[in-house]
Amino acid sequence: MSSGRAEVLPTHTPPLFAAAVARAVACLRAGEVVALPTETVYGLAANALDPRAVARIFELKGRPAHNPIIIHVASRVLALQCASQWPALADQLGAAFWPGPLTLVVPRSSHIPDIVTAGGPTVGIRWPQHPFMQAVIRECGFPLAAPSANLSNQLSPTCASHVERSLGDRLSLIVDGGDANVGLESTVVDLSGPNPRILRPGMIDATALARATGFSWATDGGPAEDSAVRKSPGLLSRHYSPRARLLVWHWQDEADLNRQLQAAKAPANNLWILAHTRIPLAGKIPHVCVIPDDPEAYARALYGELHRCDESGAELIVVEAPPEGTAWAAVADRLRRAAT
Ligand code: TXA
Ligand code: MG
Repeated sequence: MSSGRAEVLPTHTPPLFAAAVARAVACLRAGEVVALPTETVYGLAANALDPRAVARIFELKGRPAHNPIIIHVASRVLALQCASQWPALADQLGAAFWPGPLTLVVPRSSHIPDIVTAGGPTVGIRWPQHPFMQAVIRECGFPLAAPSANLSNQLSPTCASHVERSLGDRLSLIVDGGDANVGLESTVVDLSGPNPRILRPGMIDATALARATGFSWATDGGPAEDSAVRKSPGLLSRHYSPRARLLVWHWQDEADLNRQLQAAKAPANNLWILAHTRIPLAGKIPHVCVIPDDPEAYARALYGELHRCDESGAELIVVEAPPEGTAWAAVADRLRRAAT
């Protein structure tokens, strides 16, 4: 663990990009943990084949040892090296969605350290789309274990400054690859058993999975479901949470919202409303965030807005309920967990 503050390296010109790749690769080869950009959320990366380096990730995040970490690759060959079986369905999904925000859970290869899989028989593998992450993996030649770069159970970071604020005094290097383009964590699907299913909804939704595979996909468990928690401990219901209390409500109009706020004895000042269609205008509510009424733009903006609420000392965040439908499933899932 480093003392002092992390160095934050920019990547917005080709020479800066190349210099940051070289630095990150040197650190990773030396067994260090570095924060890197991906298109979903920022990741806390280490050499997946080095159990001591992966142990540092758990330590830095305060992550329970029973929660497995996903592995990031930048080629099909590297993905196959992490697995003991590679189902035809994995190739089908890989062809449709990789590189991209999809994690495939498959039987693990024996050379993946136990600590990565939390001792389990499977491993989660993702080929991320972000060019920086791809360049680093290719240059390293080994896969990278990387959970989201936040303290355990807190909000995932979607920009370098989110990482800096939460882990800046524990890391030596954060690479700034800009705002995450997807903004929510990857879809996790389990291909290890006879019935493929969604363990964590993401922006590659059930409709897209069905279109690519020709069958319909079920999502395993709700937030409170025990079997899902055992299968994928990161899906514990309290997760992805801002510090403030968060409530998800429907309201008809501003008067209706104000009635509900009064009934809930909402704090007068440290209250934030996050709305995408029924946006309160009159001066009664101190802080209103308008979030786009489109699932992809909403997903991209959500964590940034929640981080902003936390930074400004919000006590209560009231979020307008998202619409029904598979395109909104990942957003609805994260809001449900944040509200638990
Ligand atoms: O988009 C993402 O997936 C980001 C970026 C950095 O790639 N990573 C991420 O990692 O969200 P993490 O550790 O915060 O979430 C991974 C989720 C957890 O819920 C974990 O329990 C689950 O995937 N998981 C990992 N390996 C698994 C396995 N072998 N079987 C079942 N679930 C697994
Ligand atoms: Mg996480």
